[in-house]
Amino acid sequence: MNRLQNKTALITGGNSGIGFATAKEFLEQGATVIITGRNQASLDEAKQALQGKVFTILSNSSNLNDVRALRKQVEEISPALDIVFINAGIGKFAPIEAVTEEHYDEQFNVNVKGAYFTIQQLLPLINDGGSIILNTSVNAHMGMANSSVYSATKAALLTLARTLSAELLHRRIRVNAISPGPVTTPIFDKLGMAADEKEGLKTAVQSKVPLGRFGDPAEIARVATFFASDDSTFVLGTEIIADGGMITL
Ligand SMILES: NC(=O)c1ccc[n+]([C@@H]2O[C@H](COP(=O)([O-])OP(=O)(O)OC[C@H]3O[C@@H](n4cnc5c(N)ncnc54)[C@H](OP(=O)(O)O)[C@@H]3O)[C@@H](O)[C@H]2O)c1
Repeated sequence: MNRLQNKTALITGGNSGIGFATAKEFLEQGATVIITGRNQASLDEAKQALQGKVFTILSNSSNLNDVRALRKQVEEISPALDIVFINAGIGKFAPIEAVTEEHYDEQFNVNVKGAYFTIQQLLPLINDGGSIILNTSVNAHMGMANSSVYSATKAALLTLARTLSAELLHRRIRVNAISPGPVTTPIFDKLGMAADEKEGLKTAVQSKVPLGRFGDPAEIARVATFFASDDSTFVLGTEIIADGGMITL
C-alpha cells in the first residue's frame, strides 16, 4: 500500500467518478493528492470524503485563465508534482446533423484544449521522471454513431501520449493514456437524458461488453496507479484499454 509513497499527484476533475476513485487509491498508496474541479461545494464534499493528505483547487479546465493560474495555486500547496492525471472531461452525443458549434467547442475546450494547456502550464512543476496520465475512452477506437465530437476529443488525447512522451524524453517524463470502456460514474446523469432513455442506453452499452457489466471506477484507478508508480518506468507513449473486452474480443 505504498506504491506512491513520497509522490505528489494532481488529478483534474477529482471530485467525481474515476477522478475521485483515483484520488482515493493514490491516497491509499501513500501519495499527497491535489484534486481540481469546477465546483467548490463538490470539491469540499470530496475532500471531506477522502480525508488525509488531500488538497483542492477550484479550476475550470475549459477556462484558460483558470488553467494559467493553476501553476501558482499548486505551488502554494507543493513545490513540485510527480503525477498529473488529466481526467476532467465531458461527453455529449448527437448525430452530425444536429451538432452545433457550441456542442463542438464545449467538448473540445474541456477535453482537449483544457487538457493540453493544463499539461503545458504544469510542466515546469513536474519532476524529471514524472508521469502524466491521460483519461481517454474506448470511443477513440470505435465507430459509435452519435459520438463524433466526443470520440475525436479522446482520439486527440491518444496522440498526445505519443508526441509528448517524445518531446519530454530528455526529462524522462512518461505520458500514457487509459482508455476506459463504460464505467459506472455520474457522467451518465449529465447527458441530459430522461431516466428511461438513460436506462435504455446503459442496457444497450452493457450488452456490448463481453464481461457483461460496467466497470467500477476503482478498476480504472488501479490502472492509473500502475502508470503513476515506478512499476511502469519502462512504459511510455502508450495506452491501456480497460473495457471488459469491449473493443478487443
Ligand atoms: N464513465 C465512463 O463510462 C467513461 C468511459 C470512458 C472515458 N471516461 C472519461 O473519464 C473521465 C472522467 O469521467 P467520469 O466518468 O468519472 O465522469 P464524472 O463523474 O462526470 O467526472 C468528470 C469530472 O470532470 C469534471 N469536469 C468536467 N468538466 C470540467 C471542467 N470544465 N473543469 C473542471 N472539471 C471538469 C467533473 O466535474 P463536475 O462534477 O463539476 O461535473 C467531474 O469531476 C472523463 O474524461 C470521461 O470522458 C469515462
